[in-house]
Amino acid sequence: MNKALAVLFASAWLWGAAMAQGAASAPAATPAPAAANSPSTPQARPDASTEPGYAKQSNAERAQVQPGNNAPMWRQVGGGVTGYSSLPTPEAGNLVQPNVKVPGLRISSAGEVWRQVRNQWILPYGGALLLIILGAIGVFYWRTGTIALHGAPTGRKIERFTPFERAAHAANAMAFVILALSGVVMAFGKFFILPVIGTALFGWLSYALKTAHNFAGPVFAVSLAVVIVTFIKDNLPRSEDFTWLLRGGGLLSEHEVASHRFNAGEKLLFWAGMLGLGLIVVGSGLVMDKLLPGLLYERGTMQLAHVIHAVSTVLMLAMMLGHIYMGTIGMEGAYQGMKTGYVDETWAREHHELWYNDIKAGKIPAQRSAEAPPSQTVQV
Ligand code: HEM
Repeated sequence: MNKALAVLFASAWLWGAAMAQGAASAPAATPAPAAANSPSTPQARPDASTEPGYAKQSNAERAQVQPGNNAPMWRQVGGGVTGYSSLPTPEAGNLVQPNVKVPGLRISSAGEVWRQVRNQWILPYGGALLLIILGAIGVFYWRTGTIALHGAPTGRKIERFTPFERAAHAANAMAFVILALSGVVMAFGKFFILPVIGTALFGWLSYALKTAHNFAGPVFAVSLAVVIVTFIKDNLPRSEDFTWLLRGGGLLSEHEVASHRFNAGEKLLFWAGMLGLGLIVVGSGLVMDKLLPGLLYERGTMQLAHVIHAVSTVLMLAMMLGHIYMGTIGMEGAYQGMKTGYVDETWAREHHELWYNDIKAGKIPAQRSAEAPPSQTVQV
């Protein structure tokens, strides 16, 4: 970042110098002391601003009447004009991006418009969405509590997740939690952490979390791909999913609607939240990490990638909050299933009856990995 800024300022300086000095007819903007008394050196005329056409003067013309006054050049810089730079960096000759018009926002340089989109739209609406979801989950938990088993556990175990599936899920979940926490602090931390710990500590915290975010991103990308490939087969839509959806899964009634290994709610989350949003989140993140080869990494590219990343991660986080709730305190036995790999037959029958029936009918093995099932009854 610092290097990029240095390059930008250096190129702007070169460009400014070129404009101030390079115009064919213009003398040096700031005459060297030795030349100060030469007959060709223009004398400063403070009253030149009263002359007609003063405001429209080029930098070279201005230097004739007011040497050292580079206002025309800086006006062009502010207006997004690209000057010459010999540096190979993209946009090296452009200090301020040209103006753009985005409906609902005032016309400004693209950089300022990006700042407004972030601060006036993404943060307030994204933050509100996350708070609403958290509130809704809180109310749901308050009214419904943990969805408990109706029947008594049998003590007979079915392998729900193999060690490989659990490892892939654990890697992905851990990376996600690091990304989510660091992302939330980077986006919203200035509202709720900075006032408590102060700017110095918050600066260090954000920097540490940003670094963690950059490392966790690729781990998330790779583990997400593994998770998707691992679970895609059992997330393919089946006719019973429509019944499940039409009846809201029966989650609020006494009995859940029968489902295969994963119910339609889980499948929706899989396709929309993990595959759809996951691809967008990872893709835009890789752009911001400058890891996609062949792409021209200009400021506009970064601004667009940031907006796409921020919107899609907020949506993904909103969906994942529901998943994490159901996978922890929302449903008895779900977390144990992921942690140990095994669920009790009662759990399987009550939550995924069609899957349970297939296992009982011998169509799906109850034990898929070589690992032995837990000998003693585990908590469901
Ligand atoms: C702290 C975070 C997380 C927790 C506590 C958690 C917990 C769980 C639990 C308990 C299950 C088993 C549900 C069942 O038996 O039906 C599960 C399944 C699953 N989780 Fe997570 N999870 C977390 C994060 C994630 C993330 C970040 C992803 C991917 C983006 C993910 C993808 C999956 C998938 C694909 C399944 C299989 C069910 C399905 O396909 O919908 N999980 N998770």
